[in-house]
Amino acid sequence: MCGIVGYIGSERAVPILVEGLKKLEYRGYDSAGVAVLEEDQLHLRKSAGNLAVLDKIIQKEKIPGCMGLGHTRWATHGAPTDKNAHPHLDCAGEIAVVHNGIIENFQEIKAELEKEGHSFATETDTEVVAHLIEKYYEGELVEAVHRATQDLAGSYALAVIHRKTPDRIVAFRQDSPLILGIGADCHFLASDIPALLPYTREVVILEEGEMAELKKQSFRVWDPGGQEREKEIEQVQWDVQMAEKKGYPHYMLKEIYEQPAVLRQLLQEPLSGDQVEIPGVKKILEQMEDIERIFIVACGTAYHSGLIGKFLLERAWGIPVEVDVASEFRYREPLIGDKTLLIVVSQSGETADTLGALRYARARQAPTLGIINVRGSTIAREADNVLFIEAGPEIAVASTKAFFNMVAAFNLLALKIGGQKGNIISPEKLEEKLRELPALAEKTLQGVEEGTRQAASYFQKWNHAFFVGRGLDYCLALEGALKLKEISYIHAEAHAAGELKHGTLALIEEGIPVIAIITREDLLEKMVSNIQEIRARGGYVIGIAPVDFGPRLGEELDRLLLIPATEGALAPLLATIPLQLLSYHAARLRGCPIDQPRNLAKSVTVE
Ligand code: M6R
Repeated sequence: MCGIVGYIGSERAVPILVEGLKKLEYRGYDSAGVAVLEEDQLHLRKSAGNLAVLDKIIQKEKIPGCMGLGHTRWATHGAPTDKNAHPHLDCAGEIAVVHNGIIENFQEIKAELEKEGHSFATETDTEVVAHLIEKYYEGELVEAVHRATQDLAGSYALAVIHRKTPDRIVAFRQDSPLILGIGADCHFLASDIPALLPYTREVVILEEGEMAELKKQSFRVWDPGGQEREKEIEQVQWDVQMAEKKGYPHYMLKEIYEQPAVLRQLLQEPLSGDQVEIPGVKKILEQMEDIERIFIVACGTAYHSGLIGKFLLERAWGIPVEVDVASEFRYREPLIGDKTLLIVVSQSGETADTLGALRYARARQAPTLGIINVRGSTIAREADNVLFIEAGPEIAVASTKAFFNMVAAFNLLALKIGGQKGNIISPEKLEEKLRELPALAEKTLQGVEEGTRQAASYFQKWNHAFFVGRGLDYCLALEGALKLKEISYIHAEAHAAGELKHGTLALIEEGIPVIAIITREDLLEKMVSNIQEIRARGGYVIGIAPVDFGPRLGEELDRLLLIPATEGALAPLLATIPLQLLSYHAARLRGCPIDQPRNLAKSVTVE
């Protein structure tokens, strides 16, 4: 993963680089570093720990120089130490390189370079790039980077500066994102758009295998064959405020509270006319009758949204839908062809496994649909159809508003397809209920804030928790457990409520917290029986249910968090909110670094 920034212009580079890195810290926070050129002086500062540690070091000095690179790391090769922090240098200390991705053949290259006399200072894969460029440099940095990249295998976004050419930054992209920012008399580069937003909304997105040279007043781009290429300058719709905390203590809380607004944004265009119109899926609708089977493929939270998508689409479309974890999908060699629709779901649009699944399907002529948040991301560019979830920048590592809008996007799709196929009894009613949902989400946020705080305080003394549900609620249970593990480090397991008695019930002991999600009326009695089984063994059951179930559940639970009543298929969206807040408050009470949980990064661009 890792985040890269670069700047060349007339301002002092260090504050700009640090500001950019702050916006990319979600990509990794094991170490951070900057390399700045001032005439022919290369200033390098790097340190293990998050950006705040580096910031403290560089605050003490006013490093000069109006061009440089910055990096925030999610360690892959080599421990998260000062030494292994990027940028990395060549033998002469003249070339500085930052890298996001993995150089798969670095061992062979390193052995070869060592034989040629290069000496290595770190355990990273990245350092070979600096030495390769040193080997090939004959006065032209672009040429040297081009030759070096010919030797590399793997995924890598690179940015390079050389003490002898202090008027340019050279960048290269292969399977890891890299975006150029166009300023007035200056240029930027970054792994993701939020890092550019304080300076510019004009961007150029590099494609696979493209190389760029940034100077103060100009930029050039070459295609993989080495031909110079004109690039379109795109206008970003997000503004700088969207990527700020806006007074919230954490991005995660801000993003939870943004859910009603982002849902309104998602629904606005599709529900603005007489017919439901979803921009980006027209081709799929034309091919609808030819499609015999659907695969939904994604990772983590996006995968959980896919599980819900399966329920919705199978019913609406009337064809079988399978859901796969992306890291497993292509290795089981699924039977896929031109009558199979592959739906990939991803907030970042950069997740390596999900991208791998997309490419696997495209290579077999399968039509593809991306349900994606980030415009311009690799998956958004490569999928045949894209339904953008309009969640705006999501900075916290724990995904909240993106999940919310992924599930809402599946509902929209189901409404459109089910309406067209006649598989939904009353599409008008469902549409009406969807329209009401943003207001109900607001009501849910107000209604459960205090209850989730109190319930979370119960978790304080526990290191284990269980989540149970049936049907769509089981999918939500999986998401609730992931969220709790990820940010509070409480071990959490999710089970289909009816499965507990087949083994896991043995773990239920006096007082252990169990969160039961109960939004399905038809399964209410069965859930009550499962809850009784848990409580009879001492489990402390916190229920999440629509307000109209309250009278039937009151006595059955130790604590009840009520959400507004809505259409059955939409209730899981509202039930997501207390689950998110429960995790948030549990993590807060435990003093965890909520936006940057240990060992994780937001955008997982390695397999
Ligand atoms: O960007 P993506 O949606 O493809 O990311 C997939 C997962 O890495 C992501 O959902 C992850 O599980 C989140 N950290 C969960 O909160």
